[in-house]
Amino acid sequence: MGTYAVTGSASGMGAASAAVLRENGHTVIGVDLHDADITADLGTPEGRRSAVQQILDAADGRLDGVAAVAGVGPAMKDAGAVAAINYFGPVALLEGLRPALARSAAGRAVVIGSNSSTTVPMIDDKLVDLLLAGDEPAARDHARAAQTALPAEMMQSAPSISAYATSKFALARWVRRTAVTPTWAREGVLLNVIAPGAVITPLMLGSTGAGQEPDPDAFPTPMPLGLFGRPEDIAFWVHQFLRPEARFTTGATLFVDGGTDAAMRPDAQ
Ligand code: NAI
Repeated sequence: MGTYAVTGSASGMGAASAAVLRENGHTVIGVDLHDADITADLGTPEGRRSAVQQILDAADGRLDGVAAVAGVGPAMKDAGAVAAINYFGPVALLEGLRPALARSAAGRAVVIGSNSSTTVPMIDDKLVDLLLAGDEPAARDHARAAQTALPAEMMQSAPSISAYATSKFALARWVRRTAVTPTWAREGVLLNVIAPGAVITPLMLGSTGAGQEPDPDAFPTPMPLGLFGRPEDIAFWVHQFLRPEARFTTGATLFVDGGTDAAMRPDAQ
């Protein structure tokens, strides 16, 4: 049985992922702001460093897998914080834990992105560049400054929608670029993205502002299956990506979104 670190383990998809791994007999080291084995704020460089060190200590320097699930949604007011938590959180954690994953016979990492990276037409190219360049202070400043250009009604409902979609876009690009480098690929550490669509969690209900489950057929993005996802629907794929048998997929993005991306971009490959 393996040892796995799961961020965002206190709620939603992270809690469901930790539960599936535990049900399968694995040891799980949960990381979150609260109610976790390790409490750390992945929105700050110090918090990320502390999380990495505590995970390494708890795992004795060797990990079989990491699920970087923690994140925030577009309803958060501070777009700079959204960019920092959603991009630098998983990137720093995975970079810090890569050597421990390489010590496993089958190191696996999976990151939760979002189908907003392909379905929200508000990707901020400058912010993508700053994120991929690793310039956190400039990325935070730029994300906040860009917010002022949003229409008033969007500032009300989803003030960080552009920073949110952009952080997930940059994250998927980072994975694609990183997964195939020798330090990951030739060390046998596989790295992939799951891009969920609308999944019923506290984050999603907070983002829609409704507080209760909306009607899938009245949702702003198409929901071809006529239903929303549940945290377990994502946890299922997290588990598959983390299995040692998943040995020929790296740098991929899997949309787990009830068909939203396919409906909005039917001709994209
Ligand atoms: P959730 O709100 O239920 O869980 C997120 C967890 O991340 C929480 O326990 C929270 O405390 C933790 N977290 C937030 N900021 C943190 C920080 N700075 N440091 C450490 N932990 C932190 O949300 P959900 O929906 O389960 O979200 C999981 C991931 O899925 C996120 O990355 C989110 O962006 C992504 N996502 C969610 C979608 C949805 O419809 N629910 C759709 C697409 C992506």
